[in-house]
Amino acid sequence: MEVKSKARVSSDGLDRGRFTFQRSWFDEDIRPEWETLTVPLRGTKLNILEVGSFEGASTTWILDNLMTRSESRMTAIDTFEGGMEHLDPDQVHQYDISSLESRFRSNISKCEHMNKLRVMKAKSDDALLDLRREGALFDFIYIDASHVAIDVLHDAVICWRMLSVHGTMVFDDVAWKGYMEDCYNPRIAIRSFVQCAVQEVETKETEAQMWVTKVPNRIPATPNPDPALYYWDNGLAVKQ
Ligand SMILES: C[S@@+](CC[C@H](N)C(=O)[O-])C[C@H]1O[C@@H](n2cnc3c(N)ncnc32)[C@H](O)[C@@H]1O
Repeated sequence: MEVKSKARVSSDGLDRGRFTFQRSWFDEDIRPEWETLTVPLRGTKLNILEVGSFEGASTTWILDNLMTRSESRMTAIDTFEGGMEHLDPDQVHQYDISSLESRFRSNISKCEHMNKLRVMKAKSDDALLDLRREGALFDFIYIDASHVAIDVLHDAVICWRMLSVHGTMVFDDVAWKGYMEDCYNPRIAIRSFVQCAVQEVETKETEAQMWVTKVPNRIPATPNPDPALYYWDNGLAVKQ
């Protein structure tokens, strides 16, 4: 089943109707927020990373709206095999995973700035480490691939290492609860990540997402004055 993008024209007048998306998650829930929150980025030179592209709804929006400067570049990572929630036999059919990559490629081919996009067809585990080895540095990173907590945490930490100071990282689906166990949902990972990076983050939680901006370290480490308190009793015990 193919449907044209429902909300046809974005606030800058670009025609979203030229794309074909089966899912309108981005246009219905995310795009209105992004149109406001990305205003400071418009027209600036940007290096953007997207982890999880699906049919290219967010990819095409970024290409159209944030890649207008000739020096700007974008990298998109996706296996095009769907996430865990799509792999249930009924869902594979429902999400038409077999044609996912061709739908993505068809959509991005309609973008004027498509030549600025590098597509890495790979698991984020591998692609992010490749980018790190290349010495990549990004100004804006969108994390929307696997929703399994340990995967989100992995993507968050490696991406954080590649985010410039004053750069912003956005997590999608903060409140998504596709599974009953916390370890299969993103929230616990996003929370844990923010707690670990608190000395250099500013956060803004929107309806569906968490925006995290990297700021210069504002909490210097204070040495523990009492060696007798260097070790916690059962500090790492985890309740099963
Ligand atoms: C929720 S969709 C992305 C939606 C897209 N950002 C949008 O707004 O339209 C998640 C995507 O992540 C991909 N994905 C899931 N786990 C992945 C992983 N470990 N590495 C790379 N891609 C993954 C899936 O193939 C799927 O296309």
